[in-house]
Amino acid sequence: MSTQFDVVVIGAGPGGYIAAIRAAQLGMSVACIDAWQNGQGGPAPGGTCTNVGCIPSKALLQSSEHYDQVNHHFAEHGIEVKGVSLNLEKLLGRKNSVVKQNNDGILYLLKKNKITFFHGKGAFTSKIEGGWAIHISGTTTADIVGKHVVIATGSSARELPGLPFDEQQVLSNDGALNIATVPKKLGVIGAGVIGLEMGSVWLRLGAEVTVLEAMPEFLAAVDTQVAKEALKIFTKQGLAIHMGIKLGEIKAGAKNITVPYTDTAGTEHKLVFDKLIVSIGRVPYTGGLNAEAVGLQLDERGFIVVDGECKTNLPNVWAVGDVVRGPMLAHKAEEEGVAVAERIDGQHGHVNFNTIPWVIYTSPEISWVGQTEQQLKASGHAYKAGSFPFLANGRARALGDTTGFVKILADAVTDEVLGVHIIGPMASELIAEAVTIMEFKGAAEDIARICHAHPTLSESMKEAALAVDKRTLNF
Ligand code: FAD
Ligand code: NAI
Repeated sequence: MSTQFDVVVIGAGPGGYIAAIRAAQLGMSVACIDAWQNGQGGPAPGGTCTNVGCIPSKALLQSSEHYDQVNHHFAEHGIEVKGVSLNLEKLLGRKNSVVKQNNDGILYLLKKNKITFFHGKGAFTSKIEGGWAIHISGTTTADIVGKHVVIATGSSARELPGLPFDEQQVLSNDGALNIATVPKKLGVIGAGVIGLEMGSVWLRLGAEVTVLEAMPEFLAAVDTQVAKEALKIFTKQGLAIHMGIKLGEIKAGAKNITVPYTDTAGTEHKLVFDKLIVSIGRVPYTGGLNAEAVGLQLDERGFIVVDGECKTNLPNVWAVGDVVRGPMLAHKAEEEGVAVAERIDGQHGHVNFNTIPWVIYTSPEISWVGQTEQQLKASGHAYKAGSFPFLANGRARALGDTTGFVKILADAVTDEVLGVHIIGPMASELIAEAVTIMEFKGAAEDIARICHAHPTLSESMKEAALAVDKRTLNF
C-alpha cells in the first residue's frame, strides 16, 4: 500500500523546498522528492539555485572580487601587497563547501519541518482515488500518493543547435562554475545575466573574455540609462562585448574552439577560444515527470501551462518556479511556492509580479524593480524622474566605489513610485527599500521623508527621491 500525503512536491529547488516547508507549517503531511546528486551520489537539495546557480556563482563573484581588490584597489588604501597568487583549486573548493552548507541546511530544514524527503526522480503514474500516484526511482524506489502535487522541476541551460554541452570546452552554467585552470581566452555566447556574471568572474581571475550577443541593444530589459552606463563600465574593465552578431558554424577542436561570426556591418570574423560558455537562456525542465501519461498541458516552448494561481490543467496539480511562465528567478519561485501552499490550505496566496526585483551581480551591481523609463515612454504614462550619483555619496567615497547612480521614476500626478533602477555598490541590497515602498504603493515623497542612517549608501535612495521633486540636498 502506498503512503498517502496531503502534498507531494516534485523538486527541491527554491520553488519546491519552500512550498514544502510552508505546507508543513500549515499542518499538512508533506513529501518532497528531489533527484539532484552531489559528487558522492548523495542528495543535494536546493536545485539549480544552490548547486549550479545563485549560490556558487555568488561565491565565485565574491572570491574573484577579492582578488581584483587586492590586485588593483588595495594600493589606493595604502595597503601594499606583494606576491599575490591565485590558488584556483582552493577558490573552487570554497565555492563547493558553500554549496554543501546550503544543501545540508535544506536537508535540516526539511527534517525540522517533518517533511518526508525522497532522493530520486518523481514521475506521475496515474490519477487514483485520493489523489495522484507518484513513482519514485533512482537512489530511492517508492510509490506514494499525493492529494495535491506541486511540480517544481525547474529549468536547464539552452544549447546552441548542433553544439551540445560537453562541460570541457562547451560550457553551460555548470561547467562555467568549474573551470580548473583560468583559460587564456574565454568566449561567452549571450550577454545576458549569466554571460555577464560568469564573464566578470573569469575576467577578474585573469582570462581574456569576449562576449558575443545576437541582439543589437545591450541589456534591452534594463533601463536604457543604466544599460548604457553598464556597457561603458564593463568595456572599461576589459570585457570585449560585441553586439548584434550572427554566429556561424562553431567548431570544437581537440584543444580549442573556433567561433565564426558576422558583425552588424556584415564583416566576417573568426575567434579562437580555449573554452566557450554558452549562456543563451534556459528552458523549462519536465523530463522524467511522465507528464504525457496523465495529460499535463505544456505550451509550445515546454513550460507547464498554469493560470494566475499556478493551477495546471489537472485537478489538484500545481506548478511553480522556472518550469512555468514569468521570470526565472529564485525569489519568484519561492513566492509562488508559498502562495501555492497557502492556496491548498484555502487561503488567498498572492504573488505581486509588479514588484519582483532583479539583480545582476556584476561589479558594480545592477538592480531594478518596476517599470523602466523606456516602458513608461512607450505606454505614454506621464512620469517624473530623479537620480542621484554615488559620486556625491559620502559612504561610497569612503568605500572607494563611486560608480553609478540611483534613479527613481514616479507618477507625474500622484508621485507613486513606478520603478527604481540602480547601478552601483550594493545595488542588490539597496533595491529592497524600493520593493517595500512599491509594495505599499508609496510615493517618492515617502522615501524622501524617511530618515536614512548616515553615512550609508541608502542615502542615495533618499536623495534620488528628493531629486524627483528637484530638491536634492547633497548634489
Ligand atoms: P530549480 O532550482 O531548477 O530546482 C528544480 C529541482 O527539481 C532540481 O533539484 C532538479 O534536480 C529537481 N527535479 C527535476 N525533475 C525532477 C523529477 N522528475 N523528480 C525529482 N526531482 C526533479 N536567480 C536569482 O534569483 N538570483 C540569482 O543570483 C541567480 N543566479 C543564477 C545563476 C546561474 C548560473 C543560474 C543558472 C541561475 C541563477 N538564478 C538566479 C536562477 C535560479 O537558479 C532559478 O530561477 C531557480 O533555481 C528556480 O527554482 P526552481 O525551484 O523553479 O527550480
Ligand atoms: P538571459 O536570457 O539573461 O540572456 C541570454 C542572452 O543570450 C540574451 O541577451 C540573448 O539575446 C542572447 N542570445 C540568445 N541566442 C543567442 C545566439 N544564438 N547568439 C548570441 N546571443 C544569443 O539568459 P542567461 O544569461 O542564460 O540566464 C538564464 C536565466 O537565469 C536568466 O534570464 C535569469 O532568469 C536567470 N539568472 C539570474 C541571475 C540573477 O538573478 N542574478 C543570474 C544568472 C541567471
